[in-house]
Amino acid sequence: MGKVFKILGFAGSLRKDSYNKSLLRAALELVPEGVEIELFDLEGIPPFNQDLENQPVEKVKEFKEKIRAADAILIATPEYNYSIPGALKNAIDCASRPHGDNAFAHKPIAIMGASPGMIGTARAQYHLRQCFVTLSCFALNQPEVMVPFAQEKIDKDGRVTDKKTRELIRELLENLVDWTGRLTPST
Ligand code: FNR
Repeated sequence: MGKVFKILGFAGSLRKDSYNKSLLRAALELVPEGVEIELFDLEGIPPFNQDLENQPVEKVKEFKEKIRAADAILIATPEYNYSIPGALKNAIDCASRPHGDNAFAHKPIAIMGASPGMIGTARAQYHLRQCFVTLSCFALNQPEVMVPFAQEKIDKDGRVTDKKTRELIRELLENLVDWTGRLTPST
């Protein structure tokens, strides 16, 4: 049996009934063979304070270790005020510091996002991609998984029921594995 391909997934929402957490749970169901997804909850990551960046709390240490141990990263982001939620930006800032200890460096990374609105997190996703430049991440371009009118595609139990959305998530996961293989042929 070959090596298991490990993806670390996290949502930019702390909300219990988050649509974006639902996308991640769908990813768990749609995972290709030989791939394992571990989910991480950003709840508990304190606001970043550069004075304390050399003494990170356990939660930040754990986050950075899990990022490093993963072959690739999957982020499901809400859109807050046309950008990414503060909690997500804060978590990224924490994991990227101190200087020279950026846990995201050279990681292949894929994004998806869901919103009850009609734009489906597009604006937030493009802001998130901008962060990947300085993080030195290798962002996957296609497919763009932007899920508008999420309340029509995710049921009251938090399950993604929309066929097209499920197909897109599956394609995103397959492409992330393929993309990682191109970047690091030993994976
Ligand atoms: C929002 N929401 C929102 N939606 C959107 O499509 N574009 C936006 O700019 C915003 N702005 C915004 C700001 C703030 C502070 C909140 C709390 C919400 C609505 C948002 O998409 C909705 O609350 C989602 O349900 C959030 O994602 P989760 O928590 O369901 O994953």
